[in-house]
Amino acid sequence: MTESSTNPTDLPILKEVSIPPHPIWPKLESAEKEELILRIKKLLKERNAVLVAHYYTHEDLQALAEETGGCVADSLEMARFGAAQQAETLVVAGVRFMGETSKILNPEKKVLMPDLGATCSLDEGCEAGEFRDFIAKYPDHTVVVYANTSAEVKAASDWVVTSGIALSIVKDLAAKGEKILWAPDKHLGRYVQKATGADMILWPGSCIVHEEFKSVALERVRKLHPEAAILVHPESPENIIEQADVVGSTTALIKAVTTMENKEFIVATDKGIFYKMQQLAPDKILIEAPTIGQGATCQACAECPWMGMNSLHNLAEILEDESNEIHIDPAIREKAVIPIQRMLDFAKEHNIGMKKKGNA
Ligand code: 13P
Ligand code: SF4
Repeated sequence: MTESSTNPTDLPILKEVSIPPHPIWPKLESAEKEELILRIKKLLKERNAVLVAHYYTHEDLQALAEETGGCVADSLEMARFGAAQQAETLVVAGVRFMGETSKILNPEKKVLMPDLGATCSLDEGCEAGEFRDFIAKYPDHTVVVYANTSAEVKAASDWVVTSGIALSIVKDLAAKGEKILWAPDKHLGRYVQKATGADMILWPGSCIVHEEFKSVALERVRKLHPEAAILVHPESPENIIEQADVVGSTTALIKAVTTMENKEFIVATDKGIFYKMQQLAPDKILIEAPTIGQGATCQACAECPWMGMNSLHNLAEILEDESNEIHIDPAIREKAVIPIQRMLDFAKEHNIGMKKKGNA
């Protein structure tokens, strides 16, 4: 497929996103940790709550979600999981847009998050007013937004997609001759555009974590591990994607580790994913793709600082007092649910990403 579109010159200039330092949580002795986990388990039962965690959250949270009948998943499956639950409360360990999507799809349920300040650079880089002004200039375009956006941005869109379904949906739209305005991740947008040949305008947002992967350094690591397969999340820059053996959602990358013959894998996405990969494929060797950014600080490591805001500590606190509830303006919710539901219906119709228990 070839690139069939050029980006317009009137793209918004995005303000720099303020990146928090990576949170450092107090270290727990094993007895303390055990006690905290027991308390959380008891609270989950008392509150009739279920824990839904993303693959990038701390392994303690992922393990707890699985042990208590919750779910650990990518953002597509997280969105789908809540609706199938009897529980009255969904506790979403991830970032804000994930909690908002759960609330939009489950307005009758209480949705809590360990930290409501856990945002995402893509969401932050796509302010709703600016976005609405921009799309108003392109009334003949179908507006497709990545799930990593606010409820207000979703409410202004035709389709919501996650990385696990973006290619299929855009391919389908392109086959119908639709021109697409895509936001906010320019790297994922370019990847989808190149793979489908769709006519796309790309909003200039990016993920601060995946943006840190560096291509020259990756080439060096590849030479040191010539037998390794390279797994890349499509939020990564083009010169990283070009070196990949597999490009895909967090679920697709986990699946690659379990199904490919290779012994070694160089992984270009948030380090939190290593927990699930190693759990499902303990004999495989996982190597972090190199980041060289703002020095050897955790801001430059492949660890999302906002995902890191979730911990056993604040999970116990919010369950205790049922705080940090997500609220969505009903008028926004009414509009935002349409493009999200469209994505879920498309996934069902095309059998995309249906999760089997225990697997990615
Ligand atoms: P997935 O949908 O692939 O889990 O990605 C979500 C995300 O935020 C990746 O940075
Ligand atoms: Fe957003 Fe990037 Fe963090 Fe994913 S890893 S939540 S895209 S900032």
